[in-house]
Amino acid sequence: MPKRITTTATYNGNATEIFLKAIEPSEMIAASKGFASFTGMPDYALREGETYKLDVTTLKFFKTKGYEIFMRKVDPDARVFISQERGGAIKNWTHYMSVVQDGEHAIWTDDVFVDGGWLTSVVARIGLKMYRHRHESRGPLSINSAMTDVPDLPEAVFESIRSERLVLRAVNHSDAQVINDYINDTRIYENVARIAPGQTFVSTTDWISKQAPNRQAGAGFTYAIERKGALIGIISLGAASATSPAGLGYWIAPDHWGQGYATEAGQALLDFAQNMLGTQTIYSNFFLENPASGRVLDKLGFKEIGQGEFFCEGQNKMLPHMELMWRA
Ligand SMILES: CC(C)(COP(=O)(O)OP(=O)(O)OC[C@H]1O[C@@H](n2cnc3c(N)ncnc32)[C@H](O)[C@@H]1OP(=O)(O)O)[C@@H](O)C(=O)NCCC(=O)NCCS
Repeated sequence: MPKRITTTATYNGNATEIFLKAIEPSEMIAASKGFASFTGMPDYALREGETYKLDVTTLKFFKTKGYEIFMRKVDPDARVFISQERGGAIKNWTHYMSVVQDGEHAIWTDDVFVDGGWLTSVVARIGLKMYRHRHESRGPLSINSAMTDVPDLPEAVFESIRSERLVLRAVNHSDAQVINDYINDTRIYENVARIAPGQTFVSTTDWISKQAPNRQAGAGFTYAIERKGALIGIISLGAASATSPAGLGYWIAPDHWGQGYATEAGQALLDFAQNMLGTQTIYSNFFLENPASGRVLDKLGFKEIGQGEFFCEGQNKMLPHMELMWRA
């Protein structure tokens, strides 16, 4: 079973500057010193679309010749890169690297999916130590790391979902502006729990950066809802884990309300959850002052399981709220 190893390090400083340094191979080589050495890295910043062939020596003992690194994405504006790597015992090493700005701090995340066949656990443990070693050498304020199992999901789980009028597809960084404009509309953020007013382009970009690794981990499936090629909303299924149940959330751009799109997208996602992920139970909720959402959940077959109050970030206060549950 593949593993996900996640290392998050917090630094003082500017996220863009830190990202630009991080894509310089000389920085990575210097930070790895004492743990791993690399021969064959380019002497210029990593470039999208290029493949590098290296010789890697880890812990002075494990030597891998012809280790391949393909740069699937290098986006300095979004402060994200994605590399796909393989060689030696490693069948697949997908690295989602991002740096987000959080006030005066820059938070650097290395989210890595490791498939090393029967050696996966060993390789993942060494990988986790290597990222920690690199961050320690850069003088961070703090480092956190975690290793989790990645469910073996069929490839089809990662494809777009089509319904009669809509396409649900993965969000990507070119959606940032349109999403940011929509979520700054009071009619959206005042009705959902977790969108505070005044979302910036940067915070939306950072939110988008998290979606691809979460999807690969099977931890959450967020889709842009597209109608005739235009993004008209977002729908998200937080997949169930040992600690949290599956949950459904969504918004539709106000110009497109009242045409059944939320219900159609919701039904498509429930079918996907049931048929592709085997999900049996999904939770959702809405603020009582937002009956349109209650009606969507009712049409999708959700049943009330309780009422109470819940914090609405958009209005910065507690609001009466209903919890609902759907069963396959
Ligand atoms: C809630 C929301 C997603 C609905 O999107 P939509 O595409 O218009 O939804 P649908 O057209 O599929 O269904 C809406 C239903 O609510 C009904 N409705 C609309 N306003 C209503 C109101 N004030 N009171 C009762 N029902 C209402 C519609 O008539 C429709 O039901 P019907 O098909 O029986 O006529 C959209 O309004 C939205 O994005 N709101 C802001 C964000 C949000 O609330 N997200 C959900 C958070 S829990």
